[in-house]
Amino acid sequence: MVLKIEGGNKLYGTYNVQTAKNAVLPILAGSLLTSDKVTILDCPNILDVQNMLEILSSLGVNVEKNGSNITVFGEIKNIEVSNELSSLLRSSIFLLGPILAVKQKACIAYPGGCDIGLRPIDIHINGLRELGVKITEEFGYINCDATNMKPADILLDLPSVGATENLIMASIFLNGKTVLRNVAKEPEIVDLVHFLNSMGAKIAGEGTAVIEIEGVKNLHSTIYKPIPDRIVAGTILLAGATCGGEIELTNVQNDQIFSLTTKFAKNYCKIYSSYDNIILKSNGNLKAINQIETSYYPGFPTDLQAQLMASLLTARGTSVIVENLFETRYKQVPEFIKMGADIKVSGKTAIVRGVDRLYGAEMTAKDLRGGAGLVIAGLKAEGVSIISNIYHIDRGYENIEKVLQNLGAKIERVHE
Ligand code: UD1
Repeated sequence: MVLKIEGGNKLYGTYNVQTAKNAVLPILAGSLLTSDKVTILDCPNILDVQNMLEILSSLGVNVEKNGSNITVFGEIKNIEVSNELSSLLRSSIFLLGPILAVKQKACIAYPGGCDIGLRPIDIHINGLRELGVKITEEFGYINCDATNMKPADILLDLPSVGATENLIMASIFLNGKTVLRNVAKEPEIVDLVHFLNSMGAKIAGEGTAVIEIEGVKNLHSTIYKPIPDRIVAGTILLAGATCGGEIELTNVQNDQIFSLTTKFAKNYCKIYSSYDNIILKSNGNLKAINQIETSYYPGFPTDLQAQLMASLLTARGTSVIVENLFETRYKQVPEFIKMGADIKVSGKTAIVRGVDRLYGAEMTAKDLRGGAGLVIAGLKAEGVSIISNIYHIDRGYENIEKVLQNLGAKIERVHE
């Protein structure tokens, strides 16, 4: 299937933002920490979640779906995540933490997922080693023995989101206090901690650079609703800003996308917001941004970089984007150029000179967020665009074509 887009329409209407992929995935991994029933409410129907459920089932736990609610329960029976399964989902690396906490042994194939640069896992591995886990790597598999795991005081080299999540879950049953320093402060980390604490964990400091985990003997059943997806919210806002129109977002945590609404949209569009609602009005004539750099939360998220770039393709003037987190995260650029965009990339920096108009083109999604950027550009362009490899987009966006159709866009999923 491909996405067929007829560009040039303004967007009007309301969108109730889906639950956050990057909160749901580690929370589902965390559900392994008890054999009691754990129910996660309002999970998005996206490929990454389906793949995570497949991996959980392969570990021997029970997975039940009731509409968008997912219940996980039962004992882990298998401690190995195969190459076939882990290649579906890079985040499978944070399954190491919960499997080790429960079974003291784990074996996982080197993870897959978005191909956006090297994406090393040294911080995960070093942190686990500091907790006393013995790790050997052979034939693409990471073998871990946590028989002698003990609390530690660990300084992360970088505030890696996945490593922070992994180490929190690994240390949850250790006898004493584990301290993690220079951790990620992303809202999804805060949400994971709230989830784990709702199961009886004793974790403090979430949202700051230091997290302390006081070991507990066991965790229990919970029902939990994760936070809304700030990246999907930002994507739809950027689509509205670019195309023009008036969009209302509900189920959004406004403070979690300040880096977008303050630095970008507010300057060129009108934004009205309350705590969990945002209205954006735009005439579709954006101005360039002098310079914007991606960084750790609360800075501008790398996961919105491609969508922001799509917005700037037709903005008046020259914009400079610096991608600080991942190498090769400019894979959308050659596709944008097919549409008539003027972009020069040198290392981490992309210079975007706004053009008067974009033309519909045949494009290929190369990764998840880059694919979302192509959709925004297609909505703005004159004529018809066709986007292939849309499984990348389906990894993170639930029914993207339906969401946009409801806002008045001409977009459909059709056979190639
Ligand atoms: C998570 C998000 C992803 C987002 C990213 C950055 C999930 C499922 N995915 O990915 O959507 O783009 O945060 O906000 O939540 N690094 C190392 N060594 C490591 C781990 C990371 O050098 O062991 C580096 C990475 O190369 C990158 C930076 O740290 O430059 C941030 O990566 P990290 O925060 O770990 O991203 P993920 O958890 O993979």
